[in-house]
Amino acid sequence: MGTSEYVQIAPYNQLLTHFRFFLNLRSQEGEYHSLILFRLTSLHDAAISQISTVEDSPIQTHNVNQLYAMESACPHLGADMSHADIEEYDSNIVAVCPWHRYDFDLRTGQSLSGLKACTYAVEVRMDEADGVDKVWVESPKSGQGWRLVEFRPVSEEFSDPPPAVVDISNLSISEPLKDEPVVPLENPPKTLMQWAVLILNTPNPTLKVDRTRHAVNLYRTGQLLSIGNRSSSAPRPPDIPPRDEVYRKSTVDPVKAGKRKNRAGMLHALANIEQWAIDLAWDIMARFGSAYPDLPPAFFSDFTKMALDESKHFTLLTSRLAALSPSTPYGSLPVHAGLWDSARTTFPSLRSRLAIIHLVHEARGLDVNPATIARFARAGDVDSVAALETIHADEVTHVTTGHRWFTWVCARDGVDPVSTFREEVRKGWRGDVKGPFNVDDREKAGMTREFYEDLKGEMDVEIGTTGVKPLNSSEEKAPSAVQIIYES
Ligand code: FES
Repeated sequence: MGTSEYVQIAPYNQLLTHFRFFLNLRSQEGEYHSLILFRLTSLHDAAISQISTVEDSPIQTHNVNQLYAMESACPHLGADMSHADIEEYDSNIVAVCPWHRYDFDLRTGQSLSGLKACTYAVEVRMDEADGVDKVWVESPKSGQGWRLVEFRPVSEEFSDPPPAVVDISNLSISEPLKDEPVVPLENPPKTLMQWAVLILNTPNPTLKVDRTRHAVNLYRTGQLLSIGNRSSSAPRPPDIPPRDEVYRKSTVDPVKAGKRKNRAGMLHALANIEQWAIDLAWDIMARFGSAYPDLPPAFFSDFTKMALDESKHFTLLTSRLAALSPSTPYGSLPVHAGLWDSARTTFPSLRSRLAIIHLVHEARGLDVNPATIARFARAGDVDSVAALETIHADEVTHVTTGHRWFTWVCARDGVDPVSTFREEVRKGWRGDVKGPFNVDDREKAGMTREFYEDLKGEMDVEIGTTGVKPLNSSEEKAPSAVQIIYES
């Protein structure tokens, strides 16, 4: 039996904040494996036997009988196991899939159904360099050079101690929520695709956020009939998600804005981008889910997580805006749809969508976010800095998601990811892919230099006559989303 390779995850103490963590590993060949790391409490101690020991190891191996790692996708039909129920079954601990209730032993992956989930040994080792206990997880068997590219709590639902009930009434934006229920009374959505299209067609941003939270929770906890992308009656997404008129008015002249308002203007612009980003996360599922029926459920898990992140970002930013500048609530400054304009050029192709939106636009965000954060830090706005740092960390994972599924679709089509990405940018982008680049964060997300260096788009030449137009004449001169967000 060969010696297993291990990947270092985090100091043990970092695992004490939550009971479940999502791990994303990437091999040097560009393969991804997503895992859930479960930390069980003393309730289960008596029933759990040690899962991993290294005899004669010079590295101290601690008692690790409370930590388990299992693949994040159920081996039956791919459900997200992050919200699996944990149950004691005889003397075993099992994770029960939220979709069809198959249970999988957390140590062995065995199930009474006959299926078997991949499980990974977990060790806690003291790092002799700094004396700190660190958690390691066994690498997947395939591939080489596995490294951790994402490590985060699954959700605040699994925080330790359990979360208090959060009062979000103070996070309302400029208008009270319209008298429209989160779940429509008539024809409530039954599939993820139906929720995606409903949310895309929801003009009110607060309702869009609430519906996103609700739909993602239904999906994760197995309360939806199906994803619905293979159904011939899957609804089509709108070409342009509607916007509530009250949020399209400009009631403040930004030219007159003072220094404090400049920060408010930036928060407002960022919140507008996040509202479009919520739509983009739902749109990629609704628009391409039917065209690519072989997309695995992990694709939908990743993009529902992205939709939830973007809705969190929108709430964080509008909340900071309300606190910083009550006179310029969300909807009071001019907004534009530059990001959606760019997305419209990618309607025909999933490869193009992933390349242009997630690996050009979002990757550009990684380059410029640090300067934006520094600007708020110089103003002493620590709360906005905290919000923007949270957003930046999430955005690294969104570019990772873009890279993961771009390489997936390239493997499916039998083409090389780097040269294909460069070709998609040449066809679907206008002008240089500008630096300076945040090489480190791009690399974390899988975007190595050969993807983006010395790259120029020629979109006007290739698709300038396809009919893709600015949404209206007033937005015709609007700079791109990235320019608006980050110009100083
Ligand atoms: S039991 Fe998990 S997807 Fe069916």
